[in-house]
Amino acid sequence: MIYDIGIIGLGVMGTNIAKNMSRNGFKVVSFDFFEDVRSNRDDELASEGIDIADSLKSFVDGLKSPRNILMLVKAGDVTDQTIEKVSPLLSPGDTLIDGGNEGYENTSRRNKALTAIDINFIGMGVSGGEEGALNGPSLMPGGQKQAYENVRPLLEKIAAKADDGKPCVTYIGEDGSGHYVKMIHNGIEYADMELIAESYYFMKHALKMSNDEMSAVFSEWNQGELNSYLIEITADILKFKDETGNYVLDTIKDKAGQKGTGKWTGIEGLKLGIPSSIITESVFVRYLSSLSEERARISETYDSEMGSLPENKSEILEDLKKALYISKLMSYSQGFRLLKEASDTYGWHLNLGDIAMIWRKGCIIRAQFLEDINHAFKSDTELSHLILDDYFKEVVSKNHIGLRKIASRAIDKEIPMPAFLSAISYFDNMKQRRGSSSMIQAQRDYFGAHTYERTDKSGVFHTEWY
Ligand code: 6PG
Repeated sequence: MIYDIGIIGLGVMGTNIAKNMSRNGFKVVSFDFFEDVRSNRDDELASEGIDIADSLKSFVDGLKSPRNILMLVKAGDVTDQTIEKVSPLLSPGDTLIDGGNEGYENTSRRNKALTAIDINFIGMGVSGGEEGALNGPSLMPGGQKQAYENVRPLLEKIAAKADDGKPCVTYIGEDGSGHYVKMIHNGIEYADMELIAESYYFMKHALKMSNDEMSAVFSEWNQGELNSYLIEITADILKFKDETGNYVLDTIKDKAGQKGTGKWTGIEGLKLGIPSSIITESVFVRYLSSLSEERARISETYDSEMGSLPENKSEILEDLKKALYISKLMSYSQGFRLLKEASDTYGWHLNLGDIAMIWRKGCIIRAQFLEDINHAFKSDTELSHLILDDYFKEVVSKNHIGLRKIASRAIDKEIPMPAFLSAISYFDNMKQRRGSSSMIQAQRDYFGAHTYERTDKSGVFHTEWY
């Protein structure tokens, strides 16, 4: 029994995490159910000092007790089948970790089933793609606290490090909370990507900018408060040419794929009754993008007047930058508000400041302003909404006019910017002390005697409207 950790699943993520662990001094044994996958990875892993077991039994037997096994296999049925095969070989006190993009309800179910046979189960969000897996991902483990403590030194070693040296990993909470937090991360990722895509589209059509010009603007934005991985790669993508000298971006079909985590976030917002409109809008835009035939027909039926180049281009770009910043803040506010609700509903005691902290590096949404979010939740652990924080109050006051201007210009010039419009509507709605829903209540009572509450006295009322 010589190995510190075992890895099941030798796809790119499993292979890269295995290398990361081995390079950090841990003795790793790996396994894949497919023999051809094992033999294909043989030389690559051997050169990194990682052994591949030739049977599941020898894999399990080689591990130090209590055993820690990280699975990086396909979410859903494959994960269930893997657990079914491995768990009978384990002993009480051993821990299985699922590093896939799994739905939190599946993780909670597995956690309960394995707990009943004294096996720990950690559902761990892993973000950062292939590169992150190899050089330092952001890790979101949830499950038994004691089981986390056993693997903590290893996870802290392999995780990305923030500028203050802190590892981008923390214990998230019980049962499915780690995968829940990863799901919210991905929902925010969808909104971030959509807002950037809309900014690009606005620059291209309302400001008639070339790819190189746009790339330079994103690079410049990356130096300030918008500094983030996604802005950085956008600048790279815009200027990237293929061997024929064409911009690769201009040859890519405008049809966005998805694997479901953004959709799950939207569903969760509906389930818990917490508006996550910017995230959900971003999911719908991906669906809309796939309706290419209908879009083609409609585009032939209706003209799109995207306007001519305005004179005050640099002023508009400044507004766009502010608009992006505020919309991004609104979408993170929705994501964190949803986390707070989930924490209360599911009894997870999530530490929102710590979650912001582990997203500062390693993950896809890594961004400078996660430091500010971390600070906001650290200085007020009961903070219900990010835009109530003193620092963000100032940010919003200074910049929301930029968002307003861009939103009106987008409508005026017929440029679709659904996530930006959703952001400004959300903000404007959240700041109404008395909104429009009195009318909804009156209508409900009128046609269905659904009753309403009054502002001047307590109780439940019905009016004979006709
Ligand atoms: C990450 C990413 C990753 C996700 C991809 C693709 O944090 O590393 O979130 O887990 O799978 O970004 O997601 P979609 O295919 O749904 O866009």
